[in-house]
Amino acid sequence: MKRLDFIRLSGYSVTSLFLVGTSTFLNACRKMGMGNMMMGQLVLVTEGSFSEVLTMPDIVGNTSSLTAQKASCKIAGIGNVNGLGYQAQKLLGPTIKINSGETVNINFDNQLDDSTNIHWHGLKIPSNMDGHPDNKIQSGNSFKYNYTVDQRAGLYFYHPHAMGTTAKQVFQGLAGFFIVNDVEEQALNLPSGSKELLCVIQDKRIEGGNIVYSPSMTDQMTGLMGQFVLVNGSYSPVQMVETSKYRIRILNGSNARIYNIALSDSSSFSVIGNDGGLLSSPESVNQVLLAPGERLDLIIDFSNLSLNDEVYLISREFSGGDSQGKQKFRIMKFKADMVVTDKFKLPALLSTIPPLTESMSTKTRFFDISNKDANMSHSRMIHTINSKEYSSSRIDETVKNSTIETWVFDNSKGLEPHPMHLHGATFQILSRTGGRGNLMPWEKGWKDVALCMPGETVKVIVQFGKFNGMYVFHCHNLEHEDSGMMAQYEIQ
Ligand code: C2O
Ligand code: CU
Ligand code: CU
Repeated sequence: MKRLDFIRLSGYSVTSLFLVGTSTFLNACRKMGMGNMMMGQLVLVTEGSFSEVLTMPDIVGNTSSLTAQKASCKIAGIGNVNGLGYQAQKLLGPTIKINSGETVNINFDNQLDDSTNIHWHGLKIPSNMDGHPDNKIQSGNSFKYNYTVDQRAGLYFYHPHAMGTTAKQVFQGLAGFFIVNDVEEQALNLPSGSKELLCVIQDKRIEGGNIVYSPSMTDQMTGLMGQFVLVNGSYSPVQMVETSKYRIRILNGSNARIYNIALSDSSSFSVIGNDGGLLSSPESVNQVLLAPGERLDLIIDFSNLSLNDEVYLISREFSGGDSQGKQKFRIMKFKADMVVTDKFKLPALLSTIPPLTESMSTKTRFFDISNKDANMSHSRMIHTINSKEYSSSRIDETVKNSTIETWVFDNSKGLEPHPMHLHGATFQILSRTGGRGNLMPWEKGWKDVALCMPGETVKVIVQFGKFNGMYVFHCHNLEHEDSGMMAQYEIQ
C-alpha cells in the first residue's frame, strides 16, 4: 500500500497525521500491517540571497593536527550559529592534501563532550586507523592517526564514526576533504588554482542559533534533513567565475538528503571522476543524482556566459521515496565577472580503469536492505541489513584479504533510498535492476558508495584491501546507520 492510498483510506490529511503525533501514527501503521511504511515528512529547503562569496577550506599537508571542538561562527544570511568543527570558530575542517604514497600523521584531540573518532572515507588503511565505531576516543583524549595512503588520486573525506554519535557530530559540522594527488592526474593539467573548486553540500537544521540535532521518529525513518543548504559552511553562496572551464569537485556531506545536481540553464557538464578518482573518459550529462557520501569531479564550462551572467547549481526534483526529491531548489550561484579565452581542452582519455568482472569474483553475497520488517522497538526506530541490527559483538561476514567478491544489495521491496558504503574496500558497480534499471554514467570507475533507490537491486564487484582486521559496511544515510543499518566484516 502506498502512502497516498493509506492517507485516503485513513481519511486523515498529511498535516493532521503529524498533529496526531508520530507514535500514534506508527501504531496505526502497525495495526494496518505496514511495518516501516514511510511517512515522508518533507523538510523544505529555504533559499538564501546568493550574495555571500564561497570560501574554500584551508589546506594542510600530511603532517598536521585536528581538534574536534565546539565552533561558533557567523553564517551570513542566518546569523551566529553554534556547531562543531575541527578548527576554531569554523564548521568543518581543513582540506588534507597529499600525494599518493605519502604517510599521514595526524595528531587528533577530542575536545568535545562526547566520544568521537575519525574515519577516512574511501581510504584503504589498517583497521585500527580506520575509525571503526568501537575505536572511540573519549572526551579530553587524543590519538595519533598514522598510515600510508597507497591509492590513486581522488576526492576522499574524513568524518566522525564513533558508535551512536556519528550522525549527530557530522550534522553539527564535523567533516573535511581529503585529497590525494598522483602523477597520472597531474599529467592531465586539469583546471587548478582558482579554477578548481571544492564544494561540500550539506543541509542543516538551524534553530535559535544552534545546529539542532534531535531527530523525531519520522526523522529517524527518513534520515534527518534541514531547511538550510550550505556549501563549505556558507548559506546560498556565490562564486565569481571567468568565462572558462572549471574543475568543480563536489561531496554530498549531508546526513540524508540526496541532490539531483544540475545547472539552472539545463546545460550539460562533464563528469571526469567520482568516489575513487578519475573515470576512464569524460561523461557528458545534465543531471547527477548524488547521495550522502558520494563525490563528483566535474568540468563545468562557463564560456557561453557573457559578463555578469548568472547560472545556478541546483537540485532538480526526482522520484524515489516519499521524503526526498519533491522540491527543486538552488544551491549556489556562479556569476561571470571576467571574459577570457580558455585554452583548456578536456582530454578524451583520462585514465585506465581495469574492469573487474564476475569471473574474477571468488564469492557472491546477498544483502537484503529492504527493511521490510523495520519497526519500533523500545520506542526507537531500527534499520537493518539482512534483518539484523548492527552489533559490534557479531561478525557478519569474513572476507579474504586482497580478494574480489560480488556483493548484491537488494532494495527491491524497499521504500527508502539507501546509499550503501564499505570501509576497507573499493568497488565497481556491475548492474542495477528495478527502479532506474541502469548503471548511471557517473557511476563508472571506482566507487565506495552505491545508491540503491526504492525498488532497486544493485550489484557491485568489490576489491578488498590488504590489511587484516575488523571493518564495517553500512547505509550512508547517517540516521539509518546510527539506527542499526550497519554490519561488521572481518578481512583475514
Ligand atoms: Cu563515510 Cu562509514 O563512512
Ligand atoms: Cu567510509
Ligand atoms: Cu538507508
